[in-house]
Amino acid sequence: MQVETLILGAGAAGMMCATQAGPSTLVIDHAKAPGAKIRISGGGRCNFTNMHTDPARFLGTNPHFHKSALSRYTQWDFLDLVDRHKIAWHEKTLGQLFCDEKATQIVEMLRHEMAKAGAQLWLQTALVDLSHDGTRFTAQLERDGKRHSVTARNVVLATGGKSIPKMGATGLAYDIARQFGHAITDTRPALVPLTFSDQRFAPISGVATPVVAEANGTAFEEALLFTHRGLSGPAVLQISSYWSEGDAITLNLLPGHDLVERLKSARQTHGKRNVTTTLTEILPERLVDHLSTDIPLDGNVGDLSDKRIDEITTRLRRWSLTPTGSEGYRTAEVTLGGIATDRIDSKTMMSRDVPGLYMIGEAVDVTGWLGGYNFQWAWSSGIAAAHAIAERA
Ligand code: FDA
Repeated sequence: MQVETLILGAGAAGMMCATQAGPSTLVIDHAKAPGAKIRISGGGRCNFTNMHTDPARFLGTNPHFHKSALSRYTQWDFLDLVDRHKIAWHEKTLGQLFCDEKATQIVEMLRHEMAKAGAQLWLQTALVDLSHDGTRFTAQLERDGKRHSVTARNVVLATGGKSIPKMGATGLAYDIARQFGHAITDTRPALVPLTFSDQRFAPISGVATPVVAEANGTAFEEALLFTHRGLSGPAVLQISSYWSEGDAITLNLLPGHDLVERLKSARQTHGKRNVTTTLTEILPERLVDHLSTDIPLDGNVGDLSDKRIDEITTRLRRWSLTPTGSEGYRTAEVTLGGIATDRIDSKTMMSRDVPGLYMIGEAVDVTGWLGGYNFQWAWSSGIAAAHAIAERA
């Protein structure tokens, strides 16, 4: 069988690419259904983009690489597509756009656009071998127990990163990229809960509170959630991308609160009240109990000196913790790092060394913040490759 373009992976990036890569496109995936991560994303409602998409909200070895694709297919372009399919959506918070109904609407939209473009989709299909003779690629595929030899002028690597192997994540894109001479940067789980080997937060598991979480100079003001094994919630998922093993994180438990002022005024008005009682006006009671095992908080507010008030406030503003690890690829939303961008053309997503070899989506060393940014990268990079393929035809 001969096609113009073979796309490996029917996830967000691969499907998006197939909607505009031209009619002679075959997409393969080893899964039973396409877009598995889209289906489960955003609690089943898919946080499909972010209104505040900006290159500064992405991590990668080259901080400029993703600018071109993001600027040529923007969050507004994707929203336009969603609107044309009459999929109702809403902004949840911080520019995060979700389907009103269900994430599968996004998968159906992409399937519809792929069919309209004439692309074929082969599911439960494995790639056995891929070679290149300088002009065309030959892929050996296995489907329904049968071998198929497919030749293609373009091959698009869109099999994603390593996160959640149970959902079918493999290192295929990295292996093929390596086979064709591309380097892979160090990869690690990102947008992932952080853990403590002593499970010190197990007694307050389930407690949530707004914080400013900071790691290596980057801070996010969002919710923190204590878990049996450590820390989670959007604030921690966000800083996990900036954290490496051995690093400390700092939590400000008092965002938007002037505790010094509050304690000083309580000293005048409610001097006989416990310090802990005053703190529970700001923080969850179970958290205050937990903190009092570490920070001396006993006694009455009326007995607090100015110095003691400053000390308590500083401790709560700069709670420093050193997680021992993360929950790993088992639960990580994304993989940080991936195919090195130095040998990829940022406008076309094509290899600078192997004409016709494209790399898109999470497989590439570009990682977005939590909040719809990673899907936007999948859409933008997928369209960048599709347009380049269409122009190459
Ligand atoms: P993706 O992983 O989507 O697709 C890769 C495809 O390749 C899969 O279909 C897989 O089966 C296939 N494949 C892999 N190996 C293969 C092999 N060897 N042979 C054949 N096929 C193979 N982002 C966001 O912006 N908003 C959100 O709400 C969420 N929510 C979210 C929740 C959860 C639980 C996770 C795990 C992730 C998110 N994300 C997210 C991140 C987002 O899902 C992710 O960044 C994109 O799906 C990446 O798109 P890709 O197409 O690159 O990979």
